[in-house]
Amino acid sequence: MKIFVQPDEMRDWSRQQRANGLSTGCVPTMGALHEGHVSLIEVALRDCDRVIVTVFVNSLQFNNPDDYFNYPQLMDADTQICRDLGVDALYCPSPQTMYPSGFETHVLPGPISFPLEGVCRPDHFTGVATVVTKLFNATQPDRAYFGLKDIQQLAVIERMVTDFDLGIKIISVPTVRQPDGLALSSRNDRLTSDQKDKASMIYRGLQAANESFKNGERMSSALKSIANEVYAKIPEARIEYIEIFEAHNFIPIAEIGVNRSIMAVAVWFGDVRLIDNIEFAM
Ligand code: PAJ
Repeated sequence: MKIFVQPDEMRDWSRQQRANGLSTGCVPTMGALHEGHVSLIEVALRDCDRVIVTVFVNSLQFNNPDDYFNYPQLMDADTQICRDLGVDALYCPSPQTMYPSGFETHVLPGPISFPLEGVCRPDHFTGVATVVTKLFNATQPDRAYFGLKDIQQLAVIERMVTDFDLGIKIISVPTVRQPDGLALSSRNDRLTSDQKDKASMIYRGLQAANESFKNGERMSSALKSIANEVYAKIPEARIEYIEIFEAHNFIPIAEIGVNRSIMAVAVWFGDVRLIDNIEFAM
């Protein structure tokens, strides 16, 4: 497995693969790789001749400095996981390489980034869009893989790729969960085992709402109440938002119609923030 830390070297290698007629896929991550990341990498390995994984903890997208400094850094373990999976190249630039002094240009996402995470985490998606643009420029992929767990991030990236004519096919990958339903996240490691058990209720609330949807309920207020009843059983969980919206614009709706609709939640356990979502389906 090749390891690159400089964008020029990464780009040269990727262009060489292209020149050899090989397709390339990129899986951007912030490291601390878990089975969720592995599932993205496995889909990429099936789809593409060459797979590049990027590992970079992006200071620009953290609105809370503590969250950034506490973010797990497990470069050796991540390198081994990528090697074992058969990844072709790892791109892991240093913060100084990514953002040298004088860096000042940002990518500004539009209205799809404003609600939900955009309200709770100002500038987060600007940080994401900026770093992903840089990662795409360095890795030059044909395809790039993103998890549905971060559904608004996926939408922001899809919009950006379209708006900027990047010519990269964005592939979405379903959320990988623990057997009890908790969506895998690098932040789960910061939960106590008791909080981790209780955090499985996040998905149960979403599922309860979807059950009611299956039984014909279409009003957002009723569906949200059903999820909130589940969340009321875990007083230590602080719900930051629980929202229902259409997948194409992320604007909250009062009633579910014919369009693909999503319920998303953000929940705090102590100082750990978790997000999850479900697409309403019969
Ligand atoms: P990170 O949180 O490391 O996630 C990297 C990718 O893995 C994202 O596309 C995310 O949606 C996906 N992912 C995380 N948990 C998952 C799960 N349980 N199941 C399926 N996919 C999962 O998202 C980021 O990093 C950053 O914002 C990044 C895009 C790398 C830009 O810095």
